[in-house]
Amino acid sequence: MKNLIDILDLSLDEIFDLIQTAIKIKDNPVNYLEKCKHKKMATLFFEPSTRTRLSFEAAMYELGGNVIGFSEAQSSSSSKGESVADTARVVSCYSDIIVMRHPKEGAPVVASMNASVPVINAGDGGHNHPTQTLTDLLTIYLEKRRLDSFTIGFCGDLKFGRTVHSLISTLCRHKNVKMIFVSPEHLRLPGYAVLNYIDKNHIEYVETNDLDSIIPKLDILYMTRLQRERFSNIQCSSSMDNPYILTLDRLKNAKKDLCVMHPLPRVNEIERLVDSDSRACYFKQVLNGKYIRMALILKLLEIE
Ligand code: CP
Repeated sequence: MKNLIDILDLSLDEIFDLIQTAIKIKDNPVNYLEKCKHKKMATLFFEPSTRTRLSFEAAMYELGGNVIGFSEAQSSSSSKGESVADTARVVSCYSDIIVMRHPKEGAPVVASMNASVPVINAGDGGHNHPTQTLTDLLTIYLEKRRLDSFTIGFCGDLKFGRTVHSLISTLCRHKNVKMIFVSPEHLRLPGYAVLNYIDKNHIEYVETNDLDSIIPKLDILYMTRLQRERFSNIQCSSSMDNPYILTLDRLKNAKKDLCVMHPLPRVNEIERLVDSDSRACYFKQVLNGKYIRMALILKLLEIE
C-alpha cells in the first residue's frame, strides 16, 4: 500500500499489524529513534489542526526524521492559485512522504495521483479522517483488548463529523458491534453512510435524540463537537446550541468500564469535571495518535 486516503484502504489484518507496531513503539520508543534518519515528511495543512499536524510532526521527529511544511493555505502558493495536483508534484521533490489536510473532500486523492511519494489523508472536508480512526481503534483495543463485540454510541454532529464516518466505516467490518446514534434530527448520519456501511454490513443500530436513555447500554461513548465551520446559514440558525453536554451526573448510570472518547477539539460537549473520571479516555487518545502515526509512517516508507 502506497497511500492512506480512506480507512477502508487498509485490511483488518493491516490495521491489526499497525496496532501491534504502535504498542511496541509505545513500550520501547528507544528502539525506533533512528528508523527515519535522513527521511523528510511534508505536512501540508490547508485547514487548521492541533493534534493531527503536531502528532505527525512529533512522530517523525521521534523516528529520527525531519519535517517541512505549512500550517495554513495562506502561507502556501495555493493562495496564488496553485492547484493541489501541482503542489503535490512539487512537494514530492522535497520530501519522502506527504501528510495533507484539506477542506475539500477528495483533495488528498488528487494529491496521491500526482505525487511520487506516499500521501496520507489527514482529514478531507466532511469525508474521512483515517489516521484519527487508527488512533481511535488503538485506543479501543488498549481499553477493551478487543475490536469486536461491544455497543458504541456516537453523539453530536453525525452529519459533518468525518471522524465518525471513518470510524463507522471500519467498525462495520467487525463482528457483533452494535451502534447507537444520538443527534438532533438535522445532524443525523448521512444517507450514504447508512446505506454503504451500516445496511450493507447488516449492523444492528438505533437512531435517537435521547442521550440519557442509552448511556447505560454503552461500552464506548464517542462524543463529537458541532462542526460549525461546515454548517450552511440555515443549519447555523437551527444548530447554534449543542443539546448534548456530557456531565458527571449523566454518567452516574453508565457502566463502570465505559470508555468515553472524543477526537477533540472539545468545545463544550464534555464538562471538565468528567476529565478526572476513570472512564474519560480522550486524552489517552491524543497520545495514542502519535504512536499509531509512527507505525503508519514506518509502514508507508517500508521501514522494518
Ligand atoms: N482530532 C483532530 O483531527 O484534531 P485536530 O483538528 O486538532 O487535528
